[in-house]
Amino acid sequence: MRTISELSAILATALFIFALNWMNDPKTARRGVYAGVIGMTVAILATWIQPGIIHHRWIIGAIALGFVVGVPLSRVPLTAVPQRTALSHAFGGLAAGLVGAAEYFLWRGGDAAVEMTHFRMGALCAEVILGFLTFTGSLMAAGKLQEVKWIPQRPVTYPGQNVVNVGALAIAIGLAVAVVLHPGAPWAQQAFLAIVVLALIFGVFLIIPIGGADMPTVISILNAYAGLSAVAMGFVLDSKLLVTAGALDGSSGLILSIIMCRAMNRSFTNVLFGAFGKAQPALAAGEQKAWKQETVEGAAQMLEQARTVVIIPGYGMAVAQAQHKVAELYDALSKRGITVKFAIHPVAGRMPGHMNVLLAEANIPYSALVEMDEINPEMPQTDVALVLGANDVVNPAARYAKSTPIYGMPIIDADKAKTVLAVKRSKNPGFAGIDNELYTLDNTWMLFGDAKAVLSDLVKQFGSGGIH
Ligand code: TAP
Repeated sequence: MRTISELSAILATALFIFALNWMNDPKTARRGVYAGVIGMTVAILATWIQPGIIHHRWIIGAIALGFVVGVPLSRVPLTAVPQRTALSHAFGGLAAGLVGAAEYFLWRGGDAAVEMTHFRMGALCAEVILGFLTFTGSLMAAGKLQEVKWIPQRPVTYPGQNVVNVGALAIAIGLAVAVVLHPGAPWAQQAFLAIVVLALIFGVFLIIPIGGADMPTVISILNAYAGLSAVAMGFVLDSKLLVTAGALDGSSGLILSIIMCRAMNRSFTNVLFGAFGKAQPALAAGEQKAWKQETVEGAAQMLEQARTVVIIPGYGMAVAQAQHKVAELYDALSKRGITVKFAIHPVAGRMPGHMNVLLAEANIPYSALVEMDEINPEMPQTDVALVLGANDVVNPAARYAKSTPIYGMPIIDADKAKTVLAVKRSKNPGFAGIDNELYTLDNTWMLFGDAKAVLSDLVKQFGSGGIH
């Protein structure tokens, strides 16, 4: 039985590695998801068949509960996937933290299955700190993304915040060192509970100064923390499978965070410790320029006369579910010999790859999707930039407005195109809550309305009775 269990653990680990590799490319991503699901099923069975496991009813009950919570969670719309992901990290962190706490108190009661060496006690403290801070941090992040009323969406900062944050973590680590050195001391149980409470508080502190453009990065860093707490749990429980699976989770989360930090021009160490600085979302009040509105007929004329059109999709396209209509517009323009490309910003929408997924669903050729770094040099030669429900990712304030949360984030240079057509419903700001001067530039024309409705009307202009 032990050999089967160990061989299954190797199989599960291999499947996880293949899953991550296949998910690198949209063509193999679906296969990657299946590999991950099979790997996780093998991992659960490999653990379950171990002779030490005797309380099967509890396990069946837990799996049933997992289904009850997990199946509805899998049905959320694509726009809610980031908060759903944050909730998954919260559950992972809570599980790791609870297992760590249970192991410690079992050991205190003389019921531990493993010998509590200093190393194992150190791993247990790391598991508990990372697990519980991931739990509250991820709940806060999910609440912010879901726009829960009592959680402020904007970054909350105050003087000395970094000192308070680092101080809370330092006290938790100090107590952990004391518990590792004297795990059986009479005060160690209280110290252990204090570590748990400090980790829970630190998770909240970590997220409150973060908002706007930095949320995606923080979600992936919480993913890394959840993975690292699983690694520590693997050392505590002597499970090689948990160590390898947690290490893959932790390292892929860290790598994704580093890639996102680079894409958004953020310091990785700042993200790591939640010290995002004192960004205030308000822009200094300047001269208020007028918004110029264009009719659908006028916009169709502009598009018709263009040789190159770059469509810049954003969260609004996802909300309106306008991807099929945009595909129709793409076809109509391409048939007229107009070169149409899609400019993809790494954090457009609400999850990594959000725009790619929607546009692929509408069968837009992958070759028409161009990453930000590649499209930006082409923007000054572009005749029309069609901004489709995008806001923060085309906001020029990111280049100079130091007081805003998007400062330093590279943007798609829509403002450099010869003409800008922008589709949105109102004059409201985007996710980061700051005004966007793009909409009032001399070369920008607004098409107010729901993205799907506006595109429908535009496409009709290229059909019978409209432009030929
Ligand atoms: P946003 O800045 O959120 O702007 C979206 C725009 O779409 C809004 O200005 C909104 O204006 C418009 N809109 C909403 N519904 C619409 C509809 N039905 N039809 C037409 N327009 C509609 O989007 P973005 O430019 O894609 O930037 C993404 C932001 O989200 C960034 O700040 C990013 O950091 C953050 N974020 C990203 C992720 C990931 S990983 N991608 C995760 C979490 C957060 P109206 O209300 O006036 O229509």
